[in-house]
Amino acid sequence: MGSPFILPRPASLQDPLRIAVMISGGGSGLEALLRFQSKEQRCHHTVLVLADRIGARGLSHGKNRSIRSIGIPIPDNASKSENRLAHEKLIQTELESSKIELVVLSGYMRILSPWIVKKWKGRLVNIHPSLLPDFPGAHAHREVISAGVSTTGCTVHLVDEGVDSGPILAQKTVPVLPEDDEKSLQERVKKVEHLLYPETIDLLCSGEFSL
Ligand code: GAR
Repeated sequence: MGSPFILPRPASLQDPLRIAVMISGGGSGLEALLRFQSKEQRCHHTVLVLADRIGARGLSHGKNRSIRSIGIPIPDNASKSENRLAHEKLIQTELESSKIELVVLSGYMRILSPWIVKKWKGRLVNIHPSLLPDFPGAHAHREVISAGVSTTGCTVHLVDEGVDSGPILAQKTVPVLPEDDEKSLQERVKKVEHLLYPETIDLLCSGEFSL
């Protein structure tokens, strides 16, 4: 069971929802969302980009659009669990000071602790590169290929205290080709992610989902 999911308020074009996007790497998903938001007026806008490293390449997508974009590295002056807590407290402070209403994980490769998930539960979404509940975790494409399945895909879900286990909002399938390696499969899945995630975020912010 755990704590309840509290969805974002239904937003409007006049009063758009304030989104933070969290990334770890190249941020192609972030860029797809920013393009979606800049093409026409939406009921959400990205006002903060956070990465778990100062040098995360994807931060440039936010900076190029004058969005506050910062890397917050993991502190390394205490025990692993204390460093993790300190890191998440820094994240929480940034989210609060930017008055964030929805947190979008887009290639964020760290598991968030239950305390911070609880604070955002229902307003914290993730995209995972497989058809959940199949192939959760950090190596979805590798596992899809070694399982020999012919179809994979991507899943947008609300984040709960587990790993890739929260309620599913949307999924799309993608074929696995016999000649695929991890890289080619990842590229094909990402193309679909870049359509599915912005569309699903749009529906969530419009109040189209209920639990
Ligand atoms: C995306 O494929 C996303 O689904 C995946 O990381 C990639 C990030 O790409 N996320 C996970 O695996 C989360 N467990 P990007 O940095 O180019 O957007």
